[in-house]
Amino acid sequence: MSSIDIRLATPSDMDAMAVLYAEAFDPMQPRLSIEQYLTPPGAFALVAQIDSAPTTHENTSVAASVAAGYLIGRVASDETEIFSLGVANDFRRRGVGRALVETLCALTAAQGAKSVFLEVAADNPGAAALYRSLEFKAVGRRKNYYRDPGGARVDAIVMRFDLANKGLD
Ligand SMILES: CC(C)(COP(=O)(O)OP(=O)(O)OC[C@H]1O[C@@H](n2cnc3c(N)ncnc32)[C@H](O)[C@@H]1OP(=O)(O)O)[C@@H](O)C(=O)NCCC(=O)NCCS
Repeated sequence: MSSIDIRLATPSDMDAMAVLYAEAFDPMQPRLSIEQYLTPPGAFALVAQIDSAPTTHENTSVAASVAAGYLIGRVASDETEIFSLGVANDFRRRGVGRALVETLCALTAAQGAKSVFLEVAADNPGAAALYRSLEFKAVGRRKNYYRDPGGARVDAIVMRFDLANKGLD
């Protein structure tokens, strides 16, 4: 199985994150969306690198690593928020999303965060299943929070993970 390497994003990752965002969410102005998520004080991004299939060049097999997913979040006071999480279609169900969220939890717990919050669309059962598998709990609902591609309003489920209970604070 390919290894997943999670690291803090740098400015040189912006293009790759924009491609991932466009694939996971919205192809319109993905770079602007990424930049807006990174604007609030304390915001940062993680990138997941994963081995891709080796390519052959002049009879030499070259192993490569590609950006398979990203997570943007921030720490404010003792709370961590997840703003955006996306994994490339080709790399889904390989543990990339889980590794990104787990790394965020460990990283921000070490900075003093006590809990992690996020919003997930009520019509996104895959993402909700990921968070539930990590023991996030639904703690609220924001009515009509999102607008889907067809223009219909969709509720957001607010989920919370208690870092303190997991010994991660
Ligand atoms: C949601 C998303 C980030 C999951 O990323 P991923 O790398 O495929 O997730 P993982 O492989 O780490 O999944 C871990 C566990 O979460 C659950 N899970 C993840 N995706 C799921 C899906 N589509 N359906 C059901 N369960 C799912 C499973 O329990 C899975 O474990 P398993 O594969 O052993 O069954 C990815 O599908 C994605 O980018 N979707 C589009 C953007 C999005 O919805 N982002 C989240 C917005 S809040």
